Amino acid sequence: MIDVDSARQVLRDNDRGGHTVPTDGLYPFQWSWDSAITALGWFTFDEARAWQEADTMFAGQWDNGMLPHILFHGDSGTYFPGPDIWGSNTVVPSSAISQPPVWATAIRRMVETATDRELAMSSLKRLLPRLVDYHDWWYRDRDRAGSGLVRSYHPWESGMDNSPAWDEPLARVPEIEWSYQRRDLGHVDHEQRPHKAQYDRYLYLVDFYKKHDFDSDVIYRDCPYRVIDIGIVAILQRAGRDLIELCRLGGRDDAIHRISDELERTEAAIQRLWSPNHRCFFNFDIVADTALEEITTGTVLPLFGGLANEEQADAMAALVDDWLSASAFGVASTYPESPRYEPQRYWRGPVWVHINWMIAEGLRDYGYTELADRVKQAARECIDTSGFYEYFDATSGAGCGGGSFSWTAAVALYWLAN
Ligand code: DGY
Repeated sequence: MIDVDSARQVLRDNDRGGHTVPTDGLYPFQWSWDSAITALGWFTFDEARAWQEADTMFAGQWDNGMLPHILFHGDSGTYFPGPDIWGSNTVVPSSAISQPPVWATAIRRMVETATDRELAMSSLKRLLPRLVDYHDWWYRDRDRAGSGLVRSYHPWESGMDNSPAWDEPLARVPEIEWSYQRRDLGHVDHEQRPHKAQYDRYLYLVDFYKKHDFDSDVIYRDCPYRVIDIGIVAILQRAGRDLIELCRLGGRDDAIHRISDELERTEAAIQRLWSPNHRCFFNFDIVADTALEEITTGTVLPLFGGLANEEQADAMAALVDDWLSASAFGVASTYPESPRYEPQRYWRGPVWVHINWMIAEGLRDYGYTELADRVKQAARECIDTSGFYEYFDATSGAGCGGGSFSWTAAVALYWLAN
């Protein structure tokens, strides 16, 4: 049973007045996709606070439409790398990459389920132009050739930082040559976090953007890490459909055709990444011009994005079924038979409940109701076993990473509690 009062209390405790931190200490700022999912949790008991979460996030949007993955509201000694390392010099100090674009999906849900209609419509009026700018940015800036598949420049942008899917493209990135002190290891056991070799490259990329003055042309052409991330593509696709509905409601007919064209382009283009033998869509390494053959939760998110045909959905549902048989506490972030699977290490194996929500939503959309219910039940068991942790050991349901975690509490409130 989900303890609704405790879940609400997690959000209240992580509330920093207008934005919610993912958890105290480990992540002391506002992260974009955390914040979108957290807004859905707030919405179940405080609609005004949920709208405020969105407003605070979009106040940090860049002039070119990009929504940064972190907004640094104030200082904190508990997180690295901070705004000084990113150096992006924006009005609200921020990182220089984005994150999976869940916002339009969250906002559509909020608009459609709002009890305070007036507040919902006035909030939509304010947020809609920003959402349109954000989606336009993805297509314009990250898919310059109009291929239908947007690019990603950093594992942090995927939100699935140390996923084995990124091992090869990241290994090619040089290591930085300066020393630094990680703060994450002061909060979480090192067995549950990325290795130093990965951090050295994460930071090289941060330096690379800064060195090139955040010039999109240079980054698009020369960034040593450029991938097509199926998770981002799928989440953007679903959010695009949601944005079209919001545009209808908000009188932005001008944007509808443009977004529809992009959605069609993506629907056609993603087909070349389908692997019938593996029953999923593979991520793609643009620099090496090769598919990244690792089965991770990102690779079945086309279910959530509505990007699969019936045969593909059927194959992915069968894959998820096998996945659940191998990991009783939900769909583990990496397929348990992979040699790179590590059930406790961040995105290399643990169960993340918000991703399980996305997979279950997708399964339900394609008619796999019973399987969707199993995913939901498994996610509930993680929280029943351990509470509102950041992620869960896929073999035992033990809590990993940060405790009292906002998006886990939020998912519990809007998905698992009903
Ligand atoms: C971290 O610091 O681990 C974050 O995932 C980066 O966004």
